[in-house]
Amino acid sequence: MRDATKFGAETTASEVADGIDLRGKVVLVTGGSSGLGQETARVLADRGAHVILTARDVPKGEAVAAGIRASTGNPRVEVEELELGSLKDIRGFASRFLARHPTLHVLVNNAGVMACPQSKTADGFELQFGSNHVGHFLMTCLLAPALLRGAPSRVASVSSRGHHMSPVVFDDIQFERRPYDKWRAYGQSKTANVLFAVGLERRLGARGVHANALHPGGIMTELSRHLQPEDLEFLRTRTRGMKFKSVEAGAATSVFAATAPELEGRGGLYLEDCHVAAVNDAPDALDGAKSYALDPTNAERLWEVSESLVGERFAFSA
Ligand SMILES: NC(=O)c1ccc[n+]([C@@H]2O[C@H](COP(=O)([O-])OP(=O)(O)OC[C@H]3O[C@@H](n4cnc5c(N)ncnc54)[C@H](OP(=O)(O)O)[C@@H]3O)[C@@H](O)[C@H]2O)c1
Repeated sequence: MRDATKFGAETTASEVADGIDLRGKVVLVTGGSSGLGQETARVLADRGAHVILTARDVPKGEAVAAGIRASTGNPRVEVEELELGSLKDIRGFASRFLARHPTLHVLVNNAGVMACPQSKTADGFELQFGSNHVGHFLMTCLLAPALLRGAPSRVASVSSRGHHMSPVVFDDIQFERRPYDKWRAYGQSKTANVLFAVGLERRLGARGVHANALHPGGIMTELSRHLQPEDLEFLRTRTRGMKFKSVEAGAATSVFAATAPELEGRGGLYLEDCHVAAVNDAPDALDGAKSYALDPTNAERLWEVSESLVGERFAFSA
């Protein structure tokens, strides 16, 4: 039987969702074609949700969806194409999505890229900030009417302990006046994921749309596709040999953010190991949230910058 007080680093997503009934709920998981997104989608589908997972590689996504339908017996698992590095693509996706699904109950902003070589999105944004943050910002704001219709509804922003590596450097977000550093860029994008949850909660929390951010743990997935052997050494040193989680445990905090009754009515939080994490500003911290990532002033500043980057302001009518 589900007992949230016993949840920890090894708890699996299935254990978190045990006994939770998601029949009649519409769930969107970005980056559902691999890793944590795939397991998150599987577990939410297993609890009866109608799950839409996004993929850039649609055949890869379809194979994942077919596997989930077969293993859960839930026929309502679909794939939608989405490239978060293109504002045009996101707008097209959002209008197709809203036409098919006017109501959305859970949005898991999971897709992400880590420590890639310097590159830009289709709109000229630094790739990690552009796809991990700006893409999700625009998509979520465009889907807000569906989330408002689904209220009480939730947004889970998959951040990372990597946010400890950098605040959002407002003076030079795009690395135009400083040398590109792939880890600082990842850290900045993951801090932005937390600040976005804070900003969204401020705007929509009172209307029943609650947003939280989370760190899933360290899990071996395709996220490491850009890493060199020396990067793995760097990570091992930084994390002081912390144990990797299984994918099943790695998806647990996302599923916790998406479904836990303990979080009802709560938002603007940073979660890890299926708990609300405290602020930890110690320079060598292995857990917790940096205060710059939860700072409401930073969240407002990021919101304004993000609106300006996407060229749209959001008033959020239902
Ligand atoms: N694994 C960890 O240890 C860890 C730790 C902390 C945080 N996280 C976070 O957890 C999330 C999931 O990561 P994962 O470990 O499951 O990695 P993963 O297996 O590489 O999955 C990432 C997913 O994001 C998609 N994606 C990447 N860039 C995209 C873009 N521009 N547009 C649309 N989709 C895009 C990928 O699609 P393709 O398959 O098409 O590339 C893939 O489906 C990420 O946000 C990551 O930052 C992971």
